Amino acid sequence: MRKQAVVTGATSGIGLANVELLLKEGIDVIAVARSEKKKELLIDKMKPLTETGVRLDVVLGDLSQTKSTLKVVEGIKHILNKTKDKQCDILMNIAGIVSSGLHLNEEGNELTFATNHLSVFILTHALIPYLEKSSDPRILVVSSLSHYRASINFKNIQNFKLYNILKAYKRSKLYNVFFVKEFAKRNPKLPIYAIDPGLVKTEIGLKNTSKLAASIWKWRVSKGTDAYYPASFMVKVATEEAYKVHSGSYIKEGKVVKSNPITYHEDKAKRLWDYTEEVITLSTKKE
Ligand SMILES: NC(=O)c1ccc[n+]([C@@H]2O[C@H](COP(=O)([O-])OP(=O)(O)OC[C@H]3O[C@@H](n4cnc5c(N)ncnc54)[C@H](OP(=O)(O)O)[C@@H]3O)[C@@H](O)[C@H]2O)c1
Repeated sequence: MRKQAVVTGATSGIGLANVELLLKEGIDVIAVARSEKKKELLIDKMKPLTETGVRLDVVLGDLSQTKSTLKVVEGIKHILNKTKDKQCDILMNIAGIVSSGLHLNEEGNELTFATNHLSVFILTHALIPYLEKSSDPRILVVSSLSHYRASINFKNIQNFKLYNILKAYKRSKLYNVFFVKEFAKRNPKLPIYAIDPGLVKTEIGLKNTSKLAASIWKWRVSKGTDAYYPASFMVKVATEEAYKVHSGSYIKEGKVVKSNPITYHEDKAKRLWDYTEEVITLSTKKE
């Protein structure tokens, strides 16, 4: 029986490399894309692989709002429900942004927080029934080295006050690690990992950023690795037996390493979890 993966952020950078490597492993992929054009480019690029029989489906949708993320969930479920076993073996939460300036989405949530943290929370929970059907489920959440330099301020979780591009980004990546640890505790049968991809040559820093931030990113990322480098480790984490026992861990270059010491504060992880649930509930009620 072939495995089935769901991959967000599938249209560029680290996500795109993962889609290719998963298909090469003979794993069917449901990819999430936010633009029709990039969806078509993805399908074209993967044609040499899909022509061999492995399957690629693409769900179009926006992960920056709760309501649109729930629509993405419906699209994924629709495809999964048509498969024989209705199961999801691998979920890779890769989509992410970095954003200059404070931007709120239509539900009033800060854009980086909503895209990098809320969508992961929503999608992962929505797919639990499908992951539970797998004999070897794995969930990956892409965090970042920058989380080590982040702190959590419960009075300013979404950075509404004193917004700063780097602070908002690194905090969102810290929240990814808190989420992974708390999820692992609550769902012992669903292995989940925070992935540190290192510095990777992608265009993330050019997309929602000021000219200055974009030029800093261009300079900085020239020292980064190719996206296939972290992707090759991610596919291992998603498939190799050895990682099964490491649920809740932070993994860099395939090795389990310590995350920021504050991510081990269970009270903080729970408090962030409760806040996240509240925000999602409120967002779904907004007109
Ligand atoms: N590059 C690095 O050095 C680095 C380091 C640490 C962590 N990371 C993390 O790695 C992940 C992937 O980033 P990347 O570097 O590969 O950047 P990227 O090439 O810009 O990839 C980001 C992906 O997320 C998608 N995306 C963004 N906003 C979305 C939305 N609202 N709805 C749906 N999809 C959305 C993008 O779609 P489009 O293709 O349409 O833009 C793209 O496919 C991110 O979570 C990032 O924080 C990256």
